[in-house]
Amino acid sequence: MISNHHQSVMFNESIDALNIKTDGIYIDATFGRGGHAQGILNKLGEQGKLIAFDQDISAIKYAHKHFTDNRLALIHSAFSNMLNIITEQGLMGKIDGILMDLGVSSPQLDNAQRGFSFKADGPLDMRMNQTIGMSAAQWLESANKEEIANVIYQFGDEKKSRHIATKIKKYQQKHTLETTLALANIVSSVVKGQKNKHPATRTFQAIRIFINQELKQLTDVLVQSKDILSKGGRLSIISFHSIEDRIVKRFIQKNSRQKTLPKGLPIIEHKIEKTYLQDLGKYFASKAEISSNCRARSAILRVASKN
Ligand SMILES: C[S@@+](CC[C@H](N)C(=O)[O-])C[C@H]1O[C@@H](n2cnc3c(N)ncnc32)[C@H](O)[C@@H]1O
Repeated sequence: MISNHHQSVMFNESIDALNIKTDGIYIDATFGRGGHAQGILNKLGEQGKLIAFDQDISAIKYAHKHFTDNRLALIHSAFSNMLNIITEQGLMGKIDGILMDLGVSSPQLDNAQRGFSFKADGPLDMRMNQTIGMSAAQWLESANKEEIANVIYQFGDEKKSRHIATKIKKYQQKHTLETTLALANIVSSVVKGQKNKHPATRTFQAIRIFINQELKQLTDVLVQSKDILSKGGRLSIISFHSIEDRIVKRFIQKNSRQKTLPKGLPIIEHKIEKTYLQDLGKYFASKAEISSNCRARSAILRVASKN
């Protein structure tokens, strides 16, 4: 099914976390179908501005068709280009908040042609930006057994990673591995399903993260946020699995921890190292939201403010 609907996760919490000023300038790094973006626009006054990124052209096309708000600027790009784009626009250090709702959207998952889903058959693509890089099928063809096993283990926490990689290479001796169901069937022949969890969930997640370089994208944009945000500017980040959340958690902890002074020397001789962030906590979706949207089950929202 091709749907254009995406139910925004932790909508109120993630937008409240931005502490929106009516004339502020905000970034939605992951526009999707614009649920969060509309929430931000609703809180902005006439002088406010929202810059929205998405690396998937279908999200940007959707935005052009359904959003006519002149306070919204749309950018078809990976959010790791944020620093360059904000510099070009002369907005460095002037952004009052960045919202990130990581991962893929429901329309991406629901469209079998995009190759993200193990539930419906389609080409094994998995690229959020289909204009660049290798599809999952091309990568699985070119990578060796060890490389495949490492990706599935590192980004999917899949204990059977070696066994899966061996099966993939064996299959490719006779066939071209080019569809989602072919990959899902290979994984299902090795991994037992759990209640509410398809056997191929972890493998698909791992390959998607690798193909889209999701962890590098996140690490890069977090570092860039140091220069992009204004004083008091907020980070509001929703992640959906522990590998991603760990990166956000460590970044916030590292940059908000009070740097201790060496003992025994007069304080005047030491420049006190200022921390960049204030950690404003970690939040989960409410029970009510989880019962109406199962994606919210694994959502973790982390919030920080620039000092
Ligand atoms: C979970 S959806 C966001 C949904 C959105 N918050 C809403 O309410 O409709 C994630 C979106 O971010 C995009 N995305 C993921 N990683 C990205 C990146 N590194 N750069 C730009 N866009 C990215 C995906 O293409 C997808 O459309």
